[in-house]
Amino acid sequence: MDGAAVVNGRRNKGSSRGNRVLKALSWWRHLRLAHRLGLGYGAVIALLIGLSMVMEFRLQALSDTTADALQRQYPKTALVHEITIELGVVARAMRNVLILAEQDAPVPPLDEIEAAQRRMEQALNRLVALAQDPESRALLDKILTVHSAYAVNQEDFKRLVGAQRMGAARNLLVVDINGYQEDYFRLLDQLNRLHGARMLVASQEVEARHAGARRLVYSAAAVAVLLSLGVTWMLTRSVLRSLGGEPDYAARIARRIAAGELGCRVERRADDDYSLLHDMDQMRLTLIDREQALQQANAELRHTVDQLSAAKDELVSSEKLAALGAMVAGVAHELNTPIGNSLLAASTVSDASERLRHCVEQGITRKALSDQLDEMAAAAELVQRNLHRAADLISSFKQVAVDRQSSQRRQFQLDQVIHEICLTLQPSLSKAKCQLDVTAATGLVMDSFPGPLGQVLTNLVQNALLHGFEGRADPRIWVEAQGLDAGHVQIVVRDNGVGVLPEHQGRVFDPFFTTRMGRGGSGLGLHICFNITTAVLGGKIRLTSSPGAGTTVALVLPRRVPDLQPQRSEETDEHAR
Ligand SMILES: Nc1ncnc2c1ncn2[C@@H]1O[C@H](COP(=O)(O)OP(=O)(O)O)[C@@H](O)[C@H]1O
Ligand SMILES: [Mg+2]
Repeated sequence: MDGAAVVNGRRNKGSSRGNRVLKALSWWRHLRLAHRLGLGYGAVIALLIGLSMVMEFRLQALSDTTADALQRQYPKTALVHEITIELGVVARAMRNVLILAEQDAPVPPLDEIEAAQRRMEQALNRLVALAQDPESRALLDKILTVHSAYAVNQEDFKRLVGAQRMGAARNLLVVDINGYQEDYFRLLDQLNRLHGARMLVASQEVEARHAGARRLVYSAAAVAVLLSLGVTWMLTRSVLRSLGGEPDYAARIARRIAAGELGCRVERRADDDYSLLHDMDQMRLTLIDREQALQQANAELRHTVDQLSAAKDELVSSEKLAALGAMVAGVAHELNTPIGNSLLAASTVSDASERLRHCVEQGITRKALSDQLDEMAAAAELVQRNLHRAADLISSFKQVAVDRQSSQRRQFQLDQVIHEICLTLQPSLSKAKCQLDVTAATGLVMDSFPGPLGQVLTNLVQNALLHGFEGRADPRIWVEAQGLDAGHVQIVVRDNGVGVLPEHQGRVFDPFFTTRMGRGGSGLGLHICFNITTAVLGGKIRLTSSPGAGTTVALVLPRRVPDLQPQRSEETDEHAR
């Protein structure tokens, strides 16, 4: 399997539910990829921002709780502790005074007791200011009562010691002060426990909030990770579904189809009817269809071209036959006159000989005999002259006809051949009442094909007669031949007819181009002229015309046709115009 999505035959409930979910989320698929990325990760970022705000509140609460424990509970505990210490200092100092007095040692000054007493009172005042809760207040009220009684007894104790009444002082200490002292310590202890319990609650609360905050951080991180994974999964899945397979595979298939490998197999899921790979597969099939249709059309086209080419060949040969027919008609017409004259002269001789026999039988004068013989001689001479003329004509026609059929190459005088050709055109010319002027330089010797040259000139003159002179009063055609340089001659056929329209001039040599379709035109005449001139005679042909002022066709021909001629065919379509 070439990296494509595996064709998955499994169709279970899970996947159909998945499909339903995907259908419900189809709006998501229709979003652009950048928008999907933006929305997906935007949601993750929004979630993280929300969570960090919640975290901020939680941390604030945690720090409040910690501050409460530190600022409210801890100073109270510390103050209770301070009072307890000072109380201990006072108690120890009083006991020391009595012990030293008993051993007759000098009594230390009582300043220490007073200082400790002062510190105790200050701490007690701060504690009263801090402890506002009812339980603390109740205990503090009791402590204040004990404290004032204790303070009064202490004053008494100091006075008795000052008066050196040590027995009374000991009595006061043992009976009264000790009792207050114990009460004082007990109450302070109670207060201490109360505050200790409060501290414990506060620290438990801090602990709980801390644990809650930690849980929140962990779950927020987990949710963010899951959400990013989900977004990534959805994006990857939707991109893969749009492509119909792995991107690499899709690119490879696209490259192969672009390279014309239409037979390549495109692997995709069975239910895939919208992905890029699916569309590329469809494109591949459409291209195969198109290619087949194209091949078929090509074959048909080739067949049609073959048919057309065959039809053209037929038309070309019938055009040649028509030209031959025209020439035969010309020959017949030209021979008609000398043979008619000869016939007339022969019948004159026959009449004269009949008359002579009669006269000889009847008797004839010398003068009459001489007249008869003169008449017969004149007639015989007429016959002779006309028969010569006919023989001349026949020999030149024979030359043209033989050349035309066999395309023999030979040396000839160009002016002679042109005159002979023009002779065969006489009947058509006189029928159209058209004057033909031939100007051919003498002494131009050609080594070429006079037959095909005749066919070209015949076609050109017939074109002028057919196309040039409709509605023209004084139709004229000029045929001019002259040497161009040592190796070439130029033959120009010119008329004073209607000319060729500029938009037609580039097409006149194309096969089947005619402006007289169905009225005597086949569109092959100039095409044949072109082929003969270039392929047989080795020259060039060029038509120029200014509409209304006539048409000129100029041939430039080598005096000696090069030996290596291109294939003598009429298929050459390179028009050297
Ligand atoms: N001498 C001319 N005067 C005017 N138009 C001409 C002349 N010779 C050729 N043409 C134009 O060239 C076209 C092509 O000539 P051609 O190939 O001989 O075909 P066709 O003579 O059968 O029409 C003619 O139909 C005509 O329009
Ligand atoms: Mg023609």
